[in-house]
Amino acid sequence: MGKAESGSRGDFDSAPASLSNGHKQGNCCSPARRASKGLNGDCKRKPLLARRAGVVWDLFVSICPDRLQFRAAYYILPRMTNNDHTLRVYDSILGLLSSEENPTPLVRLNKVVSFEHTQVFAKLEWYNPFGAVKDRIAANLIRDAEERGVLSPGMRLVEATSGNTGLGLAMIGNAKGYSLQTPLSVAIPLEKRTVLRFFGTDVVELSDMLCPAPGAPEGAIATARQAAEDDADTILLDQYANEANPDSHYRTTGPEIWRQTEGKVTHFVAGLGTCGTITGTGRFLKEQSSDVKVIGVHPEEGHDIPGVRSIVQLQQTELFRPDEYDQTLEATDRESYELCLRLNREESIIAGPSSGMALAGALRAVPDEPGNIVVVIFPDNVFKYASSFQPHFPEICPADSEGESGGPSENDLFLADMMENLKNPHDSVRVKKLHEQMEQGGQPLVVDVRPADMFAESRVSGSVNIPQSELPKRTEELPSDRDAEIVMVCGIGRFSKHTTLYLKSMGYRNVRSLKGGINEWVRKGLETESTT
Ligand SMILES: Cc1ncc(COP(=O)(O)O)c(C=O)c1O
Repeated sequence: MGKAESGSRGDFDSAPASLSNGHKQGNCCSPARRASKGLNGDCKRKPLLARRAGVVWDLFVSICPDRLQFRAAYYILPRMTNNDHTLRVYDSILGLLSSEENPTPLVRLNKVVSFEHTQVFAKLEWYNPFGAVKDRIAANLIRDAEERGVLSPGMRLVEATSGNTGLGLAMIGNAKGYSLQTPLSVAIPLEKRTVLRFFGTDVVELSDMLCPAPGAPEGAIATARQAAEDDADTILLDQYANEANPDSHYRTTGPEIWRQTEGKVTHFVAGLGTCGTITGTGRFLKEQSSDVKVIGVHPEEGHDIPGVRSIVQLQQTELFRPDEYDQTLEATDRESYELCLRLNREESIIAGPSSGMALAGALRAVPDEPGNIVVVIFPDNVFKYASSFQPHFPEICPADSEGESGGPSENDLFLADMMENLKNPHDSVRVKKLHEQMEQGGQPLVVDVRPADMFAESRVSGSVNIPQSELPKRTEELPSDRDAEIVMVCGIGRFSKHTTLYLKSMGYRNVRSLKGGINEWVRKGLETESTT
């Protein structure tokens, strides 16, 4: 892809609303771009015979009834077509993968945005054939491995995934003759795990004690690496480190956005997971115009938004390149889920939770100024996340008292609420506060509830280890004094809340959970000890 024409900005002086109206089917390039690509009124110049056939077909369509057209199409089209995006007729489902000629839609947001000048467009990635932005990377990771000669039909793919990459790899694998194994965390929505199995994937669920936030399948990454090491016919594509991941966005997402906005995009906003989307798309857009601002949005620690990673979790992806972005900012679970709800109800856009998260960041980061055109990636749609909504919208996910309808019972929701309540300042403690207290000689009992090997690797000095799964059998190791001061610690502050509640249920009145867990302790540069 060469540099896009600088003149295309100038071509687009009409009212901003024309951004969504200005393209006609079959003639979606600006004149400058057509000139630069040697095109003539269409995105792809077809051979003369095909163009003649097209004219005859158009005439036929204009004079014949629908049924006759359908029959004729059945006999004629297979020979005439070769992934024709204007007619939307394809040789196989893989022809639907998005590209500059076949972009996913950009839709302007009209109700949830209160800007006077700045226009915000959502790029709807579930229009990819397998339902998510990750179809792009699945296709490119496979193409790249085939071209490098390390992947051939009959081999097995293995990939740690929070779901969407697996879904894309499974389906492209089905089309091309590769089987797939996906080690993944049980925290990933049931809908994704079930559909992966439906597609024929070998799903390895990991119920490890790694404080597995939905977007942090570190245990899964290690398991996938091991599977590839153990079997010569199994290949790990490794979306967390493979340059073919950002490259897919450099080749497709970036050029699509540049063309769809006729070079007028001023801000590009994406949620951060593997960081392939922001790194590849951002790089392409900045090459077209260094004025384009590239903004990454991440969730809070201990979040509940599948597909994306908190700042601590991002340290484990090699493709996180903050130096190449203009800004990164955090969005909370609450604002993300609320905005997701509003997108569905007010804009009639079936966006999933991470779309709400990216938009929440965009609305905070971008100023309201004339000429601002913001493109926000909406990675996938709401239908995969019904089970994720229950704790966030108990009022719209009614539970019967026993949970017989298959959803959580009222008791389950009550417990989930209690867990949420534990975020209050009395039942949790910040790492700095705990550190200060320990420095001043205060000696709370610090109980680390992670597995023994993780505790051995790195822990708060002086802490003791009682893994969560062993806690019910080891309560005699806790102080008999129910007023004793106790701090529960885990990786990111999720399981420590569970165990805090457990101790409270045993009558301990002075037990708190360490906010952000050992990860936050390390991030703040505080000292740890180790026995490995
Ligand atoms: C469902 C989902 N998958 C993936 C991503 C992240 O994409 P990437 O892995 O390219 O950073 C997002 C980002 O918002 C997402 O919501």
